Amino acid sequence: MDVIIRSDYEQMSLYTANRIAELVRKKPDCVLGLATGGTPIGTYRELIRKHREEGLCFSKVRTFNLDEYLGIGFNPEQPYSADQSYARFMHEELFRHIDILPENTRVPDGLSDNPEEFCKHYEKAIREAGGIDLQLLGIGGDGHWAFNEPGSSLASRTRIETLTRQTLDDNYELFYRAAGFLREDMPHFAITMGIGTILEAKSILMIANGKKKANVVRQAIEGPVTSQITASAIQLYAGKATVVLDEEAASELKNIDHYRHCEKVIAS
Ligand code: GLP
Repeated sequence: MDVIIRSDYEQMSLYTANRIAELVRKKPDCVLGLATGGTPIGTYRELIRKHREEGLCFSKVRTFNLDEYLGIGFNPEQPYSADQSYARFMHEELFRHIDILPENTRVPDGLSDNPEEFCKHYEKAIREAGGIDLQLLGIGGDGHWAFNEPGSSLASRTRIETLTRQTLDDNYELFYRAAGFLREDMPHFAITMGIGTILEAKSILMIANGKKKANVVRQAIEGPVTSQITASAIQLYAGKATVVLDEEAASELKNIDHYRHCEKVIAS
């Protein structure tokens, strides 16, 4: 795994967007795995800028999002309703600003009347698209990837997961409070790609920023592989994995000097 450390959030986002843009230019019909949360917003803004100012074209790109809350969804015909779905997040933060075709963007359907069946269908759709070329990932405060909460099997597939109190608290602060929702009104369940599903992507880009993530990032990439920190599955990953951090998120890494050394040697 490569660990890339950048001075701040902007530089972390720029590096990440450059990597995604490089793939989109090389393979215009690539399949991107996308993530939600505060962390990828800077990356999405930079991709939007590249689309507007550098002509980066997404017209053949296909995307699959990692997860969605169960019980809520986004209706593009009512774009101003107050739902806090990840489908809305993607629409607002990326899709509506670029030339991607709506039918090429997939977010798990939180309103499906048969969610178990939907999960199987989602796995099948990923396979039929030829698999994910590049999976973008954040990391939750409890070490999760997507919504694979502590205790999730490291071989898990797309399924319904019960959210931890910590995840509900973290995500309430970020998204729900501002929209006037009560904490108790948040969905307790989500559809999430499994860790096994994520590990089948052809490459992985995990991003994290800020002091708040420093400890969990250290546990994920330098601690033992454990279902208690599902992002630690990155250590089992056989493809090209890159972890992109700002200085604060990297501040507790034991091998920080080695990571910096590797980047210098590789670049020279
Ligand atoms: C949610 C998402 C994760 C994301 C995490 C971290 O739980 N399901 O995919 O990585 O939030 O979010 P943030 O980037 O806001 O810290």
